[in-house]
Amino acid sequence: MPFKAIVFDAYGTLYDIQSVAAVTEQAFPGHGDIITQIWRIKQLEYTWLRSLMQRYEDFAVVTRESLLYTLRVLGLHADASTLDRIIAKYLDLDPYPDARTALAAMKDRQLAILSNGSPAMLDSLVRASGFDNLLDAVISVDARQVFKPSPQAYALIEETLGLAPRDVLFVSSNPWDVGGAKAFGLNVAWIERITPQAMAAACVKTDLVAPLTLFKALRTQMDELGFAPDYRIAALSELPEIVNTHEP
Ligand code: LAC
Repeated sequence: MPFKAIVFDAYGTLYDIQSVAAVTEQAFPGHGDIITQIWRIKQLEYTWLRSLMQRYEDFAVVTRESLLYTLRVLGLHADASTLDRIIAKYLDLDPYPDARTALAAMKDRQLAILSNGSPAMLDSLVRASGFDNLLDAVISVDARQVFKPSPQAYALIEETLGLAPRDVLFVSSNPWDVGGAKAFGLNVAWIERITPQAMAAACVKTDLVAPLTLFKALRTQMDELGFAPDYRIAALSELPEIVNTHEP
């Protein structure tokens, strides 16, 4: 049977979290890149720590906490309006250029998001991008008060869509999310936007590694967790072909 539903991670998969650099650089000229990278690394780290500590706070809180950490360690000071302006970008991140076309090409199946984002953040995001008209469901882990890659988070897919994991293709660019979804039992497609060759070339080019290059080395290469994706593709635009020709 073909995949009955395609479920997407949001941040980093449908939406480009690097697009916050427009506002971080505008707020702190010359520091936009390092703020953006430390912020994302700490944001994810805080989701994992809060899940392990069983001290859940929603993704809006974690996103703010991780930005406060980032600015403090960099010795940068933001007034409340600057802080709010930077954080507000997470409510209208730039979608990847091929996201809309890919979603529209798969409208004959159930399409959903499963994300760490809070319900309010995700609602803003999908409305700002107009994807609310393309998605059948937007699922926030907030319903389980635990972040991905907890199995409890991925279990929300079946609870919401009424489909068994074998009938679902989960799509993420985040290797840790790919491993978590595979460990849970979903079919998984990894959007591998940075190839190992490009990664290696970026690192040996110079002894000075830019913050974005360090981020790519930490968060875009497949992890050694023993859970490999079923499909490795370079872009969302390759998904309709996979979905129309492959079966679980
Ligand atoms: C998401 C990001 C955090 O859950 O991967 O959308």
